Amino acid sequence: MAKLLAIAYFRERGFRDDIIEKFQLGYSPNEWSAFTDAAVKAGYKLDYLAKTGLSIVKVEENKKFDRFKGRVMFPIHSLTGRVLGFGGRVLNSADKTQAKYVNSPESEIYNKSRVLYGAYFAKKAITQFDVCYLVEGYTDVISMHQAGVENVVASSGTSLTIDQIKLISRYTKNITILYDGDPAGIKASFRGIDMILEEGMNVRVVLFPDGDDPDSYAKKVSIDELKEYIGKSAKDFVSFKTSLLIDEVGNDPIKRAALVKDLAHTISIVPEGIQRQFYIKECSRLTGIDEQTLLREVNKLRYTKTQKEREAEHLKEAFVEHESEGYDDQQQQGKN
Ligand code: CTP
Ligand code: MN
Repeated sequence: MAKLLAIAYFRERGFRDDIIEKFQLGYSPNEWSAFTDAAVKAGYKLDYLAKTGLSIVKVEENKKFDRFKGRVMFPIHSLTGRVLGFGGRVLNSADKTQAKYVNSPESEIYNKSRVLYGAYFAKKAITQFDVCYLVEGYTDVISMHQAGVENVVASSGTSLTIDQIKLISRYTKNITILYDGDPAGIKASFRGIDMILEEGMNVRVVLFPDGDDPDSYAKKVSIDELKEYIGKSAKDFVSFKTSLLIDEVGNDPIKRAALVKDLAHTISIVPEGIQRQFYIKECSRLTGIDEQTLLREVNKLRYTKTQKEREAEHLKEAFVEHESEGYDDQQQQGKN
């Protein structure tokens, strides 16, 4: 019964049976401890169920609850395909009393900031196509996959982290962000751009029409149209930011200056000199600010950044010296 409910949900969303199998999608029955009871009966230690957050155990009251009660389940796999944790979605998102998703808590085996949803299924295609698509949600990964675009991952249940970017960099230096075009998606993409550039990687951005995410868009159009949309709309960060902000800026010189400063800031993050030069040229072409002015601004920002890093480094060294002096003192005292 429970199984049928879940399969009906996934089919309703347009997921094919082979995809449901592949991603090992499932369901946690809508009863207080059906899962926990079944797991204990099958020989799993309650202690482990509690430590991985699958069950919530209240020792004093001698009570156990299923964390994912009544939710469809998205297992989160390690790079070698072992299940580390889960995301669980309510069946009916109209019910606003419950969070749409509940995720496994951090545990000995699940470190959210170092895991990417879908990476296990994507790594081969990422290497093959030398680009990784970064989406926001579990269902975006699955729908893209179903449409035949397999080099796609999502930062599961957290905002993007540096460790997740480093994970991708093992397979490719190119990331294309595929986010919803709503204000939240745009903001998240700005943050992602800076983080990816900081790691010395290349970043492009595709925004879906406001209100659509890759999952919903992939279902509206054909596979070829989806691929064409991504290919056509992918912009490097300079033209992405400029095209988004230029309308809003209009001819207001103060706003225009702020946009250019923002772009200069992002360009200044790029570690590679030749690439910076390329972006400066493009920024100049799109905004009409001359290259020399931009270059000066970028260099000024880089200089300030280096100074700050040096200061931090000095402080750290001074601190370490101080610490080890303290240590020596103790050693000496111990000897005397
Ligand atoms: N998320 C989460 N907790 C929430 C909401 C969202 O962890 N309460 C994470 C999930 O990983 C989710 C992603 O953020 O997949 C994107 O959220 P959202 O766009 O709201 O959901 P969708 O992935 O689009 O899910 P659906 O299509 O099923 O509505
Ligand atoms: Mn969605």
